[in-house]
Amino acid sequence: MQFRPFNPPVRTLMGPGPSDVHPRILEAMSRPTIGHLDPAFIQMMEEVKTLLQYAFQTKNELTMPVSAPGSAGMETCFANLVEPGDQVIVCQNGVFGGRMKENVERCGGTAIMVEDAWGEAVDPNKLEAALKANPDATIVAFVHAETSTGAQSDAESLVKLAHQHDCLTIVDTVTSLGGTPVKVDEWQIDAIYSGTQKCLSCTPGLSPVSFSERALEKIRNRKQKVQSWFMDLNLVMGYWGGGTKRAYHHTAPINALYGLHEALLMLQEEGLENAWARHRKNHLALRAGLEAMGLTFIVNEADRLPQLNAVSIPQGVDDATVRGRLLNEYNLEIGAGLGALAGKVWRIGLMGHASRAENILLCVGALEAVLSDMGADINQGVALAAMQKALD
Ligand SMILES: Cc1ncc(COP(=O)(O)O)c(C=O)c1O
Repeated sequence: MQFRPFNPPVRTLMGPGPSDVHPRILEAMSRPTIGHLDPAFIQMMEEVKTLLQYAFQTKNELTMPVSAPGSAGMETCFANLVEPGDQVIVCQNGVFGGRMKENVERCGGTAIMVEDAWGEAVDPNKLEAALKANPDATIVAFVHAETSTGAQSDAESLVKLAHQHDCLTIVDTVTSLGGTPVKVDEWQIDAIYSGTQKCLSCTPGLSPVSFSERALEKIRNRKQKVQSWFMDLNLVMGYWGGGTKRAYHHTAPINALYGLHEALLMLQEEGLENAWARHRKNHLALRAGLEAMGLTFIVNEADRLPQLNAVSIPQGVDDATVRGRLLNEYNLEIGAGLGALAGKVWRIGLMGHASRAENILLCVGALEAVLSDMGADINQGVALAAMQKALD
């Protein structure tokens, strides 16, 4: 068989991530590779840490990208904070809370589950009841932005409750960072992780994390070594920590970090508040178009994520056929439902560089064309005008 260089098709990425990567970021990643202990690279690493502190709104010294995707940021938090025998309250309202449970159990802890319906925010009252019923719990973990459903939880209130019961907090912001407010210091989050491939518009494969002094104290006082060598923060910080004495831990993904540096620079240039406002404005325009067509959102208006729009698939419409046609005829990717919502919803992402008026126009127009052609029961000829009105 004759192999050739791989040239991917040019798609518009409006699924649950990865999202469209800005050309500036792709260009940054093609710059010459230098050594991972080169002084010029170390200078850039310091800038990445400072820019990440801005993105997370924190002064936490231990703020850095883990050299692997969001799942590795998740594991870094659990592996370092959970010790065998620890009781951890995990709030689950979608797929990713289930992965937190797995992590707790693989670290030798016991997961106490607080369940909410998929598509709903985590209920603070249920968390409070669990905290009262389990006074030995030491950690509370939850997903701020559930990518599987498009629901956003009130991180500030959940963290406050956890602290009232002397628990540390682990918060998943893979889908929220850069798209909706994430305020680590103001909300007093102890351990947080995110991903680069969503609202930061960067390529997949890095996971920004940040740890408070309270979290570091628990890590310093561990009775046992962290079971993962790669994720043991005591070792990682020998490379990512400040100062001149940096030691080899692993070979950093040099060019991927150029990309993250550029992405964070772009976020700083735009300004966090402006990025949040852009995501919200574009969500309202997409929503106007989809609702005019007759599609309905599965999440209550108050808890909806602007960057992840989950809508019910109209009766009698085959999910995979529609997504396949959008991809093949319009080069447009939207997301399928996950887990319990598979076949029932589409997840339309408006994340980072993908959150643009032209993308909404493409998505609403293409969806209407395909659904009409398939004879679906939708309102025809009104969606684009409704969308345009919302944008104006
Ligand atoms: C909420 C949430 N947590 C964790 C992850 C895992 O991130 P990754 O796929 O980059 O490993 C994702 C990925 O979509 C996510 O949406």
